[in-house]
Parts: sequence; structure tokens; C-alpha cells
Amino acid sequence: MIDSPRTAVIVVAAGSGTRLGASVPKAFVELDGREILARCLDGVFGVQEPVQVIVVAPEGWAERAEAIGREVAGAASIYLSVVTGGAERQDSVTRGLEALAPSIETVLVHDAARALTPPAQIERVAHAVVQRGCGVVPGIPVADTLKRVDGEDVRETVDRQALRAVQTPQGFPRHELERAYQAVAQVHTDDAAVFSAAGGRVTVVDGDESAFKITTPWDLRRALRMLRSATPATRTGIGIDAHAIDPSAELWLAGLHWPGEAGLAGHSDGDAVSHAITDALLSAAGLGDIGGLFGTADEAYAGAHGDVFLAETRRRIERAGWRVANVSVQVIGNRPKLSPRRAEAERVLTDLLGAPVSIAATTTDGLGFTGRGEGISVIATALLTATSHSDDH
Ligand code: CTP
Ligand code: MG
Repeated sequence: MIDSPRTAVIVVAAGSGTRLGASVPKAFVELDGREILARCLDGVFGVQEPVQVIVVAPEGWAERAEAIGREVAGAASIYLSVVTGGAERQDSVTRGLEALAPSIETVLVHDAARALTPPAQIERVAHAVVQRGCGVVPGIPVADTLKRVDGEDVRETVDRQALRAVQTPQGFPRHELERAYQAVAQVHTDDAAVFSAAGGRVTVVDGDESAFKITTPWDLRRALRMLRSATPATRTGIGIDAHAIDPSAELWLAGLHWPGEAGLAGHSDGDAVSHAITDALLSAAGLGDIGGLFGTADEAYAGAHGDVFLAETRRRIERAGWRVANVSVQVIGNRPKLSPRRAEAERVLTDLLGAPVSIAATTTDGLGFTGRGEGISVIATALLTATSHSDDH
């Protein structure tokens, strides 16, 4: 590995998923079109500093795990290795430990089944291990009232203030963890228990609700729901405008004044780029079109420049719960030659919309009204993302 990471994440994915009851091992069950393992690795490869990633796969599934890992990791595949697990989770962790690179000082052990764990949780655990020099588990407060029972009798209420539901990744100084696993004499339910049994100190940091473990079909459904509501809705729109050349007018195009160029006819300044973008944005948001919103009958818009339309359109789509993701424009015509001022125009429009606007231009090889130099036309597409999670989106 080029830069010898000091932290490794062992992703244990070798379980069969008995309680989920799918036809494939749990890590290979699909969650909204991608395997649980792929979703989990998304989070792992999402951390800021490079880490070694060791996937522990079920017997016979190493190849498939490798393919998933490579697809997620892309260029970072050099940090990935896959080994085969054992009968108990503890055996799987042991196999993972054997694959640690020499440079590793901190080891995190993570359940593949916690598919939606955010990268921030992985980083939080890793940093705490380095800072505190001991074991670290992410824990969340227990919301339910807890009772100690004896058969069907409730004996007492347990003070939940002092309790945490513990998740993964759990992080440890490497050599202490290795020693703890070498010394382990019984089956424990998590790595912190193995570490404690060997006399190690374990501390807690905040966990995250979304790092819950997918165990049952109910959990799988819940994860699906969380995933879908976390993905913002998007909408695309298209807008087209054409204006005739009017040599007696000043040219305003793409939010810029073009001294010395023949202008465009129109009720406003004839800026076909701004108008096409306005229509693309309005159509994406389902808010009608430029004619309906800024009618030619309205004196307020006589001679108005493109920035007026774009600023007002942006205000309206944002009020409707959308944000501009990007806009792409194609200008079709002989003049003006756009390339010398393309960057300037893109900057002006990008500032107005608060999102990247790119502009391309083409001629029509002498064909049609644009080819004859009678006018220009412009096509724009826009992408919007929802800012509110309303079901209307
Ligand atoms: N695990 C593992 N090797 C095992 C058993 C479990 O790597 N021999 C992994 C699982 O793949 C999972 C994590 O440990 O990511 C937590 O285990 P659990 O949720 O219990 O998964 P399974 O054991 O697969 O599920 P079940 O207990 O329902 O069979
Ligand atoms: Mg299990």
C-alpha cells in the first residue's frame, strides 16, 4: 500500500443471516438494489483518511465479496483485502486480524449488517482510540423502560441512565486486541467483551440510530425506508427559446452585454439563454413557464435583463422546496462567438443560481434560420433536488 494506513477496519460479513431467512448470506441480500455489504462499504470508504479494509466473507463467497468491494472502492481497491470467515463471529474476527498490514496501529471491527453506519461514526471511534489509547464502542441511550424479570414476574425497573445499546465499529489498539483474541477462552457477543475479558479498558462514544443492525426482515424493511427518505428527490426540466436578430438592438446574452454584436428582438432584452434556463427551471419544478409567470403584458419586465428572471425564478423554486443542482445550456447560432466569454458567462449565471451552469455553443452548418443568421435558439436543461422531505416530491 502506497501510504501505509495506520487504521484498519475489519468488516465481518461471514454470518449466514439465519434470522433474516434469505436465500443468500445476509451481507449479500439486496437493500434497494445494492447488497448490504456494498452499502456498508460505502460508509467505510467514505471516511476521510485512508484505512485498510478487510472484508471477512462466508465460505464460498470471497470472490463475490471481492467484486462488491472493488466496485465500491474503485481506485482505492489497493486498500481492500478479502478473507474467509469461521463458524462464530469471533472466529471471523480472528481471520480478519491475520490479514492486518504491518503499519496498522488501530483496529476497528465492524458488522457488515450495520449497513447504514455513517462515516462520521467510524471516524469518531477511530479518533477516540488514538486519543484515549484504549477500547472504544459507540453506544446510544436506551429509550425503552427496562425491567429485570424472573420468568413471567417483573422484579425491578433498571435505571436506563446508566445503560447504552452498543453498536459497531468497535475500535482498539492493535496489539492489545490481538493479545485479547489469542487469550480468549469463551464465546463473547462483541469485541469489547473479548477485550475486557483480557483486562483491557473500554470506553464509549456517541453512536447513531442509523447504525442499527439489520437482523430480521422487519429491520431490512426499516433500512429500506430510511434509505429512501434520505435520498433527496430530483427532477429535471427542459427549456427552449429562440429570438430573431435585430441589428438595431444591443446584444444581451447569457447575462452579459456584448458590445458591437447585433442584438436580439424581444419584449425584454431578448436574452434567449436566460429565458431557456428560466423555462427549464420552471418546468423541472412544475411551476409553469416563463410566459405564464412573466407575461409580455407586464410592463415590469419590458427591457428586463436575464438576471431579473433568473433571480425571481430561483426564489420561486426554492420556496416550492427545490434547490438547483445544475443547469446545462446549448446555444445554437452563428454569432456571437461564445468561447472567448464562456467562462465569464458561466460565472455570472452560476452566481445567480447558486449552482453550476455550463454553456456550450454550436452552429447548424448553414442550415435553417440559425444557419442563415436570422436568429439564435437555445436549449437548456436543469436538475433540481428537493430540500424538504415532503411526499409530494
Ligand atoms: N458474522 C461473521 N461470522 C460469523 C457470524 C457472524 O462474520 N460466523 C458477522 C455477520 O456477517 C454480521 C455480524 O457478524 O455482519 C453480526 O452478526 P449477526 O447480525 O448475528 O449476523 P448473522 O450471524 O449472519 O445472523 P444470524 O445470527 O441471524 O444468523
Ligand atoms: Mg449471528
